[in-house]
Amino acid sequence: AQLFGMDFNLSEEHLAVQEAASDFAQNHLLPGVLERDNEQKFDKELLRQMGELGFLGMMVSPEYGGGGMDTLSYVIAMEEISKIDASAGVIMSVNNSLVCWGLECFGTEEQKQKYLTKLASGEMIGAFCLSEPEAGSDATSQHTTAEDKGDYYLLNGTKNWITSGETSNVCLVMAQTNPELKHKGINVFIVEKGLDGFVVGKKEDKMGIRASDTHTLMFTDVKVPRENRIGEEGFGFKFAMSTLNGGRIGIAAQALGIAAGAFEISLKYSKERQTFGKPISEHQAIQFKLSEMATKVEAARLLVYKAARLKDEGKDYIQASAMAKLYASETAMWVTTEAVQIHGGYGYVKEYHVERLMRDAKITQIYEGTSEIQKLVIARELLK
Ligand code: CAA
Ligand code: FAD
Repeated sequence: AQLFGMDFNLSEEHLAVQEAASDFAQNHLLPGVLERDNEQKFDKELLRQMGELGFLGMMVSPEYGGGGMDTLSYVIAMEEISKIDASAGVIMSVNNSLVCWGLECFGTEEQKQKYLTKLASGEMIGAFCLSEPEAGSDATSQHTTAEDKGDYYLLNGTKNWITSGETSNVCLVMAQTNPELKHKGINVFIVEKGLDGFVVGKKEDKMGIRASDTHTLMFTDVKVPRENRIGEEGFGFKFAMSTLNGGRIGIAAQALGIAAGAFEISLKYSKERQTFGKPISEHQAIQFKLSEMATKVEAARLLVYKAARLKDEGKDYIQASAMAKLYASETAMWVTTEAVQIHGGYGYVKEYHVERLMRDAKITQIYEGTSEIQKLVIARELLK
C-alpha cells in the first residue's frame, strides 16, 4: 500500500516480528490476563520472558545487547502484544521508547555500558519520571529540585503516576536546577532504586492497565552522582520532549492494538451470536458498526506506521507522532465502546475481554500527553 509516497508493504523481517509477538501474546499473555487485571499484578516470569525474547530493547543497537530493529518492527510488536494485554504493552513502551531510546541517543558511553545493556535485556526495568502532582500537561513547571553540589546533585520532590514505579530498577528523573532559567534549567538524571531518601510511595488502584504498576515516588535529599546526569546542564526538558515524540508512537501502537483486538473479538462474536433466527452479523446495524470499526483501525494503523517510518528515515516526526497518538487513542476508545455494544450484556462482563479493553483504552487518551495536548502540539506544528 502506498501512502504519502511511502511503501507500507511489510518485509519478511517485519512479518517475522509480527508472528513472534502474536505467538507470545496468544500463548503466554492470554492465559492469566484476566487474573492479572483483577489482582493488579504483572507476572515477573512473563517480564523475564519478554526480555529474553528481545521485546524490551527492540530498537537498541546490538552493541548494547538490543535487537537493532527499526521503529516499524517495534510498533508491529506493540500492536500484537497490546491486542491481548495492554498492561504488558505499556511496560514495554516505557522501557523501549522512553528509557532505552533516551539513553541510547543522549547517554554517555559509561551510562550505556552500565545501564542500557541491562535495560535492553530486561535484566533491569526502567521508569520515566516527568509528571508531578502540579505538573502533568504543564510539564515545564517542575517542582522537584536538583541542587548542584559539585560531585553530586541533591534531589528533592515528588513524582506521581510513574509506570513501573515499583518494578523498575532505574528511573530517569527530570528536576529543576536553575528555576530562573525556567524549562532551560531542568536536568535529567539516572536515579537507581535503593539510594538513601528514595521512597516508592502509594500504588494507584486504576480503571485500566491494572497489571502495570503505577506509583508515586518520593525523593528526600537523594544524592545523585554528577556522572548520572544525561546531557549538558539544562538539557532535561529537551530530553523529555524528544523522548516523548517517540514514546507517543509507542502509545499510539498500544492504542491501535487495543482497538484491533476489540475489533477482532467482535467480528468473531458477531458470526456466532444468533438473534431473531440469524447471526447478528447479518443485521445491517451490526455490519455498519464492524465496517466503521475496521476503517478506523486501518486509518490508525496507517498513521502509526507513517510516524514510525518517518522516525526510521530520520525525518521530522513531531506532528506525525502526535497525530498517530491522537487518532489511535480516540479510535481505541470508540472501537472498544462499540465492541462492548456488539456483545450486548456479555460485553459488560469480564469473560469476553472487551470490557477490559474498553477500560484499558481510556488511558491512551491521557498519558504521554492528553488528546488536548496532542492537538496543541499539532496546531503548533501547523502554525509554525
Ligand atoms: N519536541 C521537541 N521539543 C519540544 C516539543 C516537542 N514535541 N514540545 C516542546 N518542545 C520544546 C520547545 O521547542 C521549547 O524549546 P525552546 O525553549 O528551546 O524553544 C520547549 O520545549 C518548551 O516548549 P513550549 O514553550 O512549547 O512549552 P509549553 O509549556 O508551552 O508547552 C507542552 C509544552 C508541549 C505542553 C509540554 O509541556 C508537553 O508535552 N506536555 C505534556 C507532557 C507529557 O506528555 N507528559 C507525559 C509524561 S510520561 C508518560 O505519561 C509515560 C506514560 O504514561 C507511560
Ligand atoms: P492535567 O494536566 O491537570 O489536565 C487536566 C485536563 O485539562 C486534561 O483534560 C487536559 O487535557 C486539560 N488541559 C490541560 N492543559 C491544557 C491546555 N493547555 N489546553 C487544553 N486542555 C488542557 N507520567 C510520567 O511522567 N511517567 C509515567 O510513567 C506516567 N505513567 C502514567 C500512567 C498512568 C496510568 C497515568 C494515569 C498517568 C501516567 N503519567 C505518567 C502521567 C500522565 O502523563 C499525566 O497524567 C498526563 O500528562 C496529564 O497530566 P495531569 O494528570 O496532571 O492532567
